[in-house]
Amino acid sequence: MKITIIGTGYVGLVTGACFSEVGHNVICVDCDAQKIELLQGGGIPIYEPGLEELVARNVASGRLSFTASTAEGVEKSDVIFIAVPTPPLDDGAVDLSFIEFVAREIAACMTSYKVIVDKSTVPVKTGEKVEETIKRYCKADCEFDVVSNPEFLREGFAVDDLMNPDRVVIGSTSDRANEAMQKIYQPFNAPIVFTDINSAELIKHAANSFLAMKISYINAVAAICEASGANVEEVANGIGMDDRIGRRFLNASLGFGGSCFPKDLSAFIRISDDLGYDFGLLKEVQKINASQMDRFVKKITDTLWVLKGKTIGVLGLAFKQNTDDVRMSPAIDLCNRLIKEGAFLRVYDPKAMDKAKMVLPDGDVLFVDDMNEVSIGCDALVVATEWPEFKQLDLVKSKEVMTVPIIFDGRNLLDPALVEKLGFTYISIGR
Ligand code: UGA
Repeated sequence: MKITIIGTGYVGLVTGACFSEVGHNVICVDCDAQKIELLQGGGIPIYEPGLEELVARNVASGRLSFTASTAEGVEKSDVIFIAVPTPPLDDGAVDLSFIEFVAREIAACMTSYKVIVDKSTVPVKTGEKVEETIKRYCKADCEFDVVSNPEFLREGFAVDDLMNPDRVVIGSTSDRANEAMQKIYQPFNAPIVFTDINSAELIKHAANSFLAMKISYINAVAAICEASGANVEEVANGIGMDDRIGRRFLNASLGFGGSCFPKDLSAFIRISDDLGYDFGLLKEVQKINASQMDRFVKKITDTLWVLKGKTIGVLGLAFKQNTDDVRMSPAIDLCNRLIKEGAFLRVYDPKAMDKAKMVLPDGDVLFVDDMNEVSIGCDALVVATEWPEFKQLDLVKSKEVMTVPIIFDGRNLLDPALVEKLGFTYISIGR
């Protein structure tokens, strides 16, 4: 198939690379000419395991190319994917101006039948608006279909998630469009859910909100574990073995972050409100997530008492493992709170240091290049992101160089028995 993808962010770029990997001819379009130049020169604007090799291989095979021209992308392909950002607005609603702009651009360039697929996360009924917009701006005789095809990839595992999806959701009532979509996804051998546009759009918000709810649920259970002396990991294992519940996304933490869950929850609450339903359950999910960070910071201040003049080591700045993304990162939120209390921070992240430098205040933070050097002179060490390599931290050396051997583990990454045996005071989540 000849496919164009508009938007080369996490979703657009990974989708383009994976579609070309299975044999389709893909053109990736972005209005950011600098980004296109970088991609044309073999550079990758984000860190995502496996992506660089995948892009290089498919560019070399001639199946993947990049352009800043939407007109070129629309002219040369039969199916046009929209994968542009849908950022949150202050009132919890979603900014759909990029989608609307791209819809007009596509309409203006169309000269033959096109399938226009929305891959960005959007509120239910956006597809209807896209269809209206294209009708309004295209030449009168142009045929087209609009499809909703939400994406479920996770940052850090994006290539694997896209190559091996649990399911593919296709929202469209047009046989012609469904046939084209089936051809695109046939090589992935995944179950396909054919549905209407509105249901497809809702599936995405409902899925992300459900996963966020799972995390808040286990975080609330963690609070009860702390109060009762139970162990949240044991509880998560025990309930997760029930197939109806499942163990995944039951890891207690200092809260979920990133560019999806917080935004999608707010959007889904807002959409429900607009449709006349007060989704109180999801409001509680947000409340638990916010209080999880408050409770964690309180553990630190309860233990260290005054933070002014103290040095705290922070391991992890990305919003989760395997990514350099710090958007809505709980680790960055935590750093800012500790700095506000007067602490000086020594921080390390395997991939997110450059992006963190752009958001953390100068002067209060020292970026350390080696995770084993972070603890030097620290009054406490905090694990803020679940990078697996933090399990390899040289704890014996850390204890020697710390002023006081205290570890706050916001991800339950370390083994409590081992850490305590080495003489640390160890405080984690729900255990
Ligand atoms: C999420 C969804 O998992 C994807 O399916 C979806 O496609 C994506 O949003 C999106 O809408 O684009 P992502 O934001 O990349 O993916 O990251 P997740 O792996 O879901 O993690 C989100 C946050 O929850 C992270 O801060 C993570 O550390 C936290 N988390 C996750 C926990 O605190 N506990 C868990 O058990 C799992």
